[in-house]
Amino acid sequence: MKRIFSGVQPTGNLHLGNYLGAIRNWVKLQDEFDCLYCIVDLHAVTVWRKPEELTANTREVAAGLLAAGLDGKRNIIFNQSQVPGHSELAWIFNCVARLGWLNRMTQFKEKAGKNKENASVGLFAYPNLMAADILLYKATHVPVGEDQKQHLELARDIAQKFNNDFGVDFFPEVEPLIFGTATRVMSLRDGTKKMSKSDPSDYSRINMTDNADAIAKKIRKAKTDPQSLPANVEKFDARPEAANLMGLYAALSETSIEDVCNRFGGGEFSAFKKQLADLAVAKLVPIGERMRRLMEDPAEVDRVLAQGGRRARQLAEPTLKEIQDVVGFLRP
Ligand code: AMP
Ligand code: TRP
Repeated sequence: MKRIFSGVQPTGNLHLGNYLGAIRNWVKLQDEFDCLYCIVDLHAVTVWRKPEELTANTREVAAGLLAAGLDGKRNIIFNQSQVPGHSELAWIFNCVARLGWLNRMTQFKEKAGKNKENASVGLFAYPNLMAADILLYKATHVPVGEDQKQHLELARDIAQKFNNDFGVDFFPEVEPLIFGTATRVMSLRDGTKKMSKSDPSDYSRINMTDNADAIAKKIRKAKTDPQSLPANVEKFDARPEAANLMGLYAALSETSIEDVCNRFGGGEFSAFKKQLADLAVAKLVPIGERMRRLMEDPAEVDRVLAQGGRRARQLAEPTLKEIQDVVGFLRP
């Protein structure tokens, strides 16, 4: 039986990239597999957060997951800090992973920027915690967007080195699950940058809570180029904005990018954008409305998270004891 684990940071502004690259796929997996979906608040504090915003964003992300169609009974939905095993295993992995491995992580370089000396130690060790999230439950499959592939390769290396160092066959191999189109949704202002929660411009992303007007306006204002729409994907490399918008259409309508090229290639951006906006509104507005209702009355969200936390702790506890035994920690 495959066990699925994935995570999302509670940093506010859940956006279309999170939805298409991750959450929508999580919803598809829930019918077939045992799934754990974790709101990674320990990861969030690798950068300083206002405590009350962290709390509010944790609820907002949980509301987003439920509104998108995840079922709190069939899945284990919880916030990471409720299960101390994540931090404990992350510490062990801090001692397994090598500095050289972490030095190669591109996300750290992007997030730390020029002032690397001033980044938190947690931000550097972030991928070790991510490996711990997954391996604490011996999860085998991790549905994520492209940007997380390197972290998952590191999780495999850590699992393998742990097994080798201790001469055990304890942790399984971790596989990324990256679904079809929209594995990398780009900013609406710059087709070479990924759509992100932290972009200072709200026009760069479509938030899951945006209303119909906001969605239509952001798509209308999205950056384009002066040519007509490309008729085939070979042209995409030189035209990142067209590639992104046409990719979004394909992902939202669940058709292939080739179909979108056949249908809209040679046409004008303005007419295409109108259709893209209608499609995005039809898909997202109902989710956004459910999300807002859940956020107005957080009791339901808190209940789901509390139950998920209990179930995750139960699952983690025996594995953690086995890990302690493997490492040689005395449990008198
Ligand atoms: P984060 O917002 O960084 O916590 O990411 C949560 C999930 O959304 C991860 O699986 C990411 O890979 C995915 N994700 C984030 N941004 C994008 C994007 N621009 N395009 C596709 N997937 C994304
Ligand atoms: N690092 C992931 C992101 O930024 C979030 C995450 C944390 C995660 N732990 C995870 C994703 C475990 C998958 C599995 O998107």
